[in-house]
Amino acid sequence: MTRPGVMLLDAAGPEAGALATAAAARGHQVHAATTAAAYTGYGPELKGLLAGHIVTDFARPGRALAELAAYSRRWGVGAVLTVNEYLTELAAHLCAELGVPGNDPGRAHAARDKAAMAQAFAAAGVRMPYTVLVRDDAGLRAALADPRVGFPCVIKPIAGAGSAGVTVVSGPDGAAEAADAARTVVGMYAGGGDPRVLVQAYAAGTEYSVESLTQDGATTHLAVTRKQVTDGASRVETRHSLPVRLPPAIEAAVYRQVEAAIRAAGIRHGASHTEVIVGGDGRCAVIEIGARLAAGQIGVLIQHALGIDVWAALLDVALGRPAALAPTARGYATVRFVTSSCAGRLTSLSGLPSVGPGVPFVRWRAAIGGPVHEPDANGHRLGSFVVTGADAAEVEERADALLRQIRIHVEPHPNGPGQVSEASTSAIAP
Ligand SMILES: Nc1ncnc2c1ncn2[C@@H]1O[C@H](COP(=O)(O)OP(=O)(O)O)[C@@H](O)[C@H]1O
Ligand SMILES: [Mg+2]
Repeated sequence: MTRPGVMLLDAAGPEAGALATAAAARGHQVHAATTAAAYTGYGPELKGLLAGHIVTDFARPGRALAELAAYSRRWGVGAVLTVNEYLTELAAHLCAELGVPGNDPGRAHAARDKAAMAQAFAAAGVRMPYTVLVRDDAGLRAALADPRVGFPCVIKPIAGAGSAGVTVVSGPDGAAEAADAARTVVGMYAGGGDPRVLVQAYAAGTEYSVESLTQDGATTHLAVTRKQVTDGASRVETRHSLPVRLPPAIEAAVYRQVEAAIRAAGIRHGASHTEVIVGGDGRCAVIEIGARLAAGQIGVLIQHALGIDVWAALLDVALGRPAALAPTARGYATVRFVTSSCAGRLTSLSGLPSVGPGVPFVRWRAAIGGPVHEPDANGHRLGSFVVTGADAAEVEERADALLRQIRIHVEPHPNGPGQVSEASTSAIAP
């Protein structure tokens, strides 16, 4: 029997690699759509898994859609997947074009553009922080004076991801700078020059994400994840842990909001990652939704804590086959991200844990001798590792202990004449 081909939009990164591996292991021919520059970064293992690839320009989605549709028809593609936030809209259009299971192309923009998302959420009655779309300086002043916004507030790009350009602003003084920072963040394949930014009321509370899979419009929530982010103006994710058991009434309220958000974003067949903040009063505000599996190793956490093969499940959903979503384990898993507290050049690293019992995943991204940043976006994280086990408290303790063993030395950028530039800092995310 010839199995349908599988098309991955952007095959770079660990999540896409796991999907490609799962699809190839099941006997599917795996194809990648990629940019010329990204393809040069594909390692030999990934290239060995691929039956073929097509180089396209994702910055020109209309043309990319036509090219990918023609390529997919030629190679018998029966499933289209992406874990790349920036390509979820193109994926929905390609699925519709090919007639394979996918999300509603008419709504897919709402999961990518936060202004469209705010409109779609408002129309669907999804609770989200009060949001103003600002186009210029006068609009910014008006938004800051709006009592429904207040301080602190959050200024963010329309189409960013990974916390880049998102600033929590405590008073009017930092707002213009924050708006400039949001404007300078352009999407991965966008040209820039969009003057619009969002100004949003600050939602106080505890941050979670809900990882869901929707098939034929029916949603299964795989896990609630506790997300820890840095304090202060920039909110970089420093750890995720799952599964979280919320009190039943709160869980039900969160799921109601998440399901409304999923429908509003047109998610019919596929994964979603919905970020929420639960306030002290137990009420839930939806911060954003992504029409894709969560990044930040959350797929690995689900796999190890709950025994759900997320990669196989994503594949089945994309092929329109019943997916196995019931947990087969009752464990717990957490990921820790390593950051540097100062910018400079990374001169040494020691104490990184190795993959072994209870530590199924370790990844280091920063090159020795290369630049590091003070973390103001998830992309500035230097590495990560996952810890799993049966007991939540023990897993968290072990992860903290392993994190404390990691030592990085950063030679700070010289700030002016006379500044000593020797390795002087050893800094780990809390
Ligand atoms: N309205 C808000 N209230 C409180 N915190 C927020 C709000 N909006 C964003 N944040 C914080 O900033 C982080 C990044 O914002 P988000 O809207 O999720 O952007 P991105 O798409 O870059 O992830 C969130 O995870 C959260 O910690
Ligand atoms: Mg987010």
